[in-house]
Amino acid sequence: MSLAFPTQDPPEGGFPYEGKAAAAPTSRLTTKVSMPALQGMKREGKPITALTAYDYATSRLVDEAGIDMILVGDSLAMVVLGHDNTLAVTVDEMLHHTRAVRRAVRRALVVADMPFGSYHGTLAEGVANAVRFVKEAGAEAVKVEGPRVELVQALTDAEIPVVGHLGLTPQSVLRMGGYKVQAKTVETLTQLKEDAMALAEAGAGAIVLEGVPREVAAAVTAELEIPTIGIGAGPDCDGQILVFHDILNMTFAPHAKFVRQYADAAALIRGAVEQYREDVEHRAFPTDEESYHLPAAVRDAAEMAVVISDRLA
Ligand code: KIV
Repeated sequence: MSLAFPTQDPPEGGFPYEGKAAAAPTSRLTTKVSMPALQGMKREGKPITALTAYDYATSRLVDEAGIDMILVGDSLAMVVLGHDNTLAVTVDEMLHHTRAVRRAVRRALVVADMPFGSYHGTLAEGVANAVRFVKEAGAEAVKVEGPRVELVQALTDAEIPVVGHLGLTPQSVLRMGGYKVQAKTVETLTQLKEDAMALAEAGAGAIVLEGVPREVAAAVTAELEIPTIGIGAGPDCDGQILVFHDILNMTFAPHAKFVRQYADAAALIRGAVEQYREDVEHRAFPTDEESYHLPAAVRDAAEMAVVISDRLA
């Protein structure tokens, strides 16, 4: 990493490596976002912006761009770690990424996704794992999938803010038999509404609604006092969340109907790396300007030493 190295030749006497550490993160907006602040945004009718992020550099950019909530999603299993679904990622891996995100973020609410298996046993295990995300990684809330009302109540009792997640819950992919839009029948949409109300009553601070018809998300959003954050759930939710790699064309897969691609980072990165490779292959990198040099006095003395040793030879 070059951040600690000087950007130009040091003054005489300052050789060789007296760099500055990376500047501390700064955010465009400085008021820290909390779970109650998100709820206030719902009351005021202000759309909540949310995005996933998984590492220091990208979280810092997302935070500086003014996004309100950053989810360290278990989608990292797929987009960062290359798994076929989200099931394989472990608590320790999620903690590792959450720590990196937390170091970068100054303003956004940092929510850690509880991975598959970390809250599917006893309530005590679920609470203990959630405590790890807060204590060891600095998460400010955790997200759990499904209508786990007792767990949400237990986490709330343990002072841990919780985001619920209903509709298409990717950790249920084996049971669902694929990623399918949910709540499309009267029976299932009624169940989803009841689940959302129950999670809110148990203390959930917000609910992600994923892969449900727009009409269902709109009805749930109107009924709940806590915010809904939609992904593939239409425009009537209180906020929207997308996966960082989806909006930047970094997933190497066709994207879902609800994804809007805002930039082509794949093309940008590939182009930059190809250019770098060509420059090295053609000895166009580094140039003399990109090299460090001896101070003049040392260089002169070294040259003199060569002349003398040549003469003596
Ligand atoms: O893991 C994730 O990225 C998520 C979002 C899709 C909401 O859960």
